[in-house]
Amino acid sequence: MDARNLLVLLSFGITLVLLVTWFHLPLLSLTNKEALNCNIYSGWCTSKNRFHSSSSDPNPINKPTTFSNHHQQLKHEFDVPRHPLDPLTIQEFNEVRAVLSTHPLFKSSNSYTLNSLVLEEPDKELVLKWKKGQPLLPRKASIVALVKGVTHTLTVDLNTNQITNHETSPAAGYPTMTIEEMMSVLDVPLKNNEFNNTITKHGVDLADLVCLPLSSGWYGTPVEENIRLIKVQCYSRKGSVNFYMKPIEGVTVLVDMDKKEVVSITDNGQNIPIANGVDTDYRYSVQKLNKELKLINPISLEQPKGPSFTVDGHIVKWANWEFHLKPDPRAGIIISQAKVRDPDTSELRSVIYKGFTSELFVPYMDPTDGWYFKTYMDAGEYGFGLQAMPLDPLNDCPRNAYYMDGVFASADGTPFIQPNMICIFESYAGDIAWRHAECPITDMRVTEVRPKVTLVVRMAAAVANYDYIMDWEFQTDGLIRSKVGLSGILMVKGTTYENMNQVPDQEYLYGTLLSENIIGVIHDHFITYYLDMDVDGSDNSFVKVNIKRQETSPGESPRKSYLKAVRKVAKTEKDAQIKLQLYDPSEFHVVNSLKKTKVGNPVGYKLVPGATAASLLDPEDPPQKRAAFTNNQIWVTPYNKSEQWAGGLLVYQSQGDDTLQVWSNRDRPIENKDIVLWYTVGFHHVPCQEDYPIMPTVSSSFDLKPVNFFERNPILRMPPNFKDDLPVCKAQDSA
Ligand SMILES: *[C@@H]1O[C@H](CO)[C@@H](O)[C@H](O)[C@H]1NC(C)=O
Ligand SMILES: *[C@@H]1O[C@H](CO)[C@@H](O)[C@H](O)[C@H]1NC(C)=O
Repeated sequence: MDARNLLVLLSFGITLVLLVTWFHLPLLSLTNKEALNCNIYSGWCTSKNRFHSSSSDPNPINKPTTFSNHHQQLKHEFDVPRHPLDPLTIQEFNEVRAVLSTHPLFKSSNSYTLNSLVLEEPDKELVLKWKKGQPLLPRKASIVALVKGVTHTLTVDLNTNQITNHETSPAAGYPTMTIEEMMSVLDVPLKNNEFNNTITKHGVDLADLVCLPLSSGWYGTPVEENIRLIKVQCYSRKGSVNFYMKPIEGVTVLVDMDKKEVVSITDNGQNIPIANGVDTDYRYSVQKLNKELKLINPISLEQPKGPSFTVDGHIVKWANWEFHLKPDPRAGIIISQAKVRDPDTSELRSVIYKGFTSELFVPYMDPTDGWYFKTYMDAGEYGFGLQAMPLDPLNDCPRNAYYMDGVFASADGTPFIQPNMICIFESYAGDIAWRHAECPITDMRVTEVRPKVTLVVRMAAAVANYDYIMDWEFQTDGLIRSKVGLSGILMVKGTTYENMNQVPDQEYLYGTLLSENIIGVIHDHFITYYLDMDVDGSDNSFVKVNIKRQETSPGESPRKSYLKAVRKVAKTEKDAQIKLQLYDPSEFHVVNSLKKTKVGNPVGYKLVPGATAASLLDPEDPPQKRAAFTNNQIWVTPYNKSEQWAGGLLVYQSQGDDTLQVWSNRDRPIENKDIVLWYTVGFHHVPCQEDYPIMPTVSSSFDLKPVNFFERNPILRMPPNFKDDLPVCKAQDSA
């Protein structure tokens, strides 16, 4: 199999039979007594009342596959939009293609690529006014197309079947690559005899070659001018599916992505051997089992009365939450119009208008020739949603999960399905939502405890070697947690070293020796979130609540010092460019100053950062200029429909002239305005041997937590678990 076919397999290899069927059977109405007797009434102990995925293929990568996934298409053929934010349907994609085909730019199918084709969301004020049952707002498609090196942005009105807007972009940079482009560049080096000879000289059989398309960043050199470039580096897959651990170090092919020609081939790794790849295969089927190892018994969550959430088209309802959920080729998951029901008034109250992963930045920390350019922006360059592989039922998501497919457009506009792209499930990890036990001295004998159940929306994007597990978790107490889990395989560097005792200066390893001939290179991950907060309405303010030490005056108190909270409303954008500081801490509130609680506090939500890291690169370093949205951890901008992608609309080879930093430096007023909060989760990753040959998941998160939003604890009236509600089934009854 050649490299191209292997990449096809990697990108689409998991798609074939993952047909999801949602058996929405009526909930079984068993009385507690009946349910307890699971031998006779095995009702809930079987999987009948669960959401289903019909695939349980443990090893899908071995399946043959095709680019057009006809089976899944059939399932979505008759999808109709029912909400103004619903993604484009198969029929709408086909209509867009028909409209475009009448335009001279799109006459010949091999002269253009549609790098983005998604719903153009209606104006926010119209969406906010729209109510279920009303006619749908006019449907429009937003298109980013590349024609002969020029980026065109177009709008197609699907009601009139007209192109209503057409502009060419003056900005530097190119749109997100299409899957077809990523694949087609891998053929290019193989047409070059010098490349074949180079690979052979490294002792690699061309039949074992696997190559990756690596975005080349932008460094302002003459060779980058007016040309869309990509770098190709290759690996040997001989003896292990984990080819990432067998780099052909030092060989970099620079490719003209449009002409599909080799620009240059560099080889400065002639003396570096290919690592042997022994024991790097991570598949369960090939592991040598150690009989001494204690295994965990199978585990799963039981829901005697079935799931508590519903998915109606793209509207998810669970407990006190309601939100719109859609897959997006660039952002992955988009959460819209998230509202929480007030337990006192029963009113659905708005929290977020729109939240998603706006951009990622992954710079590697090795300045040498084959590595300096590795400064990936995974959403804008590769498409975070395009890289979201089908989730593996029972392992990526528990058995009680519901799966949602993505329906996206390929480079010529033909729709395709990204099956099982998102899962939704209720999670119970044995945690406590709130508790109090009265101690014996009061003689009151009160013990009240509530179990914590949450709703998780999950996606896992495998951007080549790295896997990002993206969760949005909703809690009944009003908190939203957004979590990033990093797993997958390190991008490693080949070396002559086999042991640390051969290394003269560890600093110039740029990483950690993980195995013979393998260095895990130090790198960062930054994930920047767009959070259009609408706390009880669109007009909000950002308040920095600074926690400061106050010294007491002499004689005032036996205490010398205490802490006080000093509130400061951000007037303009620059007031809200925030770098986190442990010794000068603040809380970060988004409040609606027009809405107050009964005792007069403005209602709000606060952003609670988790463990994070800041970028330490020089602000003038070209990758840092392009990723200037990581210069602060928090930013607040006034709402602007065209400012959603933190690195700019056109991120590929961008030069940093259209980033969040540039917008925020306009220093526009943000007090009592429709505002957008931006937050960046960061990781410094100094690899260690446990990350080899595949990484245990490392996570970080942030919370959006109600702050004076409710009058009191919103889950005060929630019931505890009662024994009768949780019948114990015999193990064999569980399906
Ligand atoms: C390079 O090797 C590949 C794989 O064997 C082959 O298909 C291709 O024709 C070769 N290229 C040249 C220019 O010989
Ligand atoms: C909205 O954003 C675009 C892109 O940054 C900018 O050109 C425009 O001036 C912005 N509008 C306002 C009112 O800030």
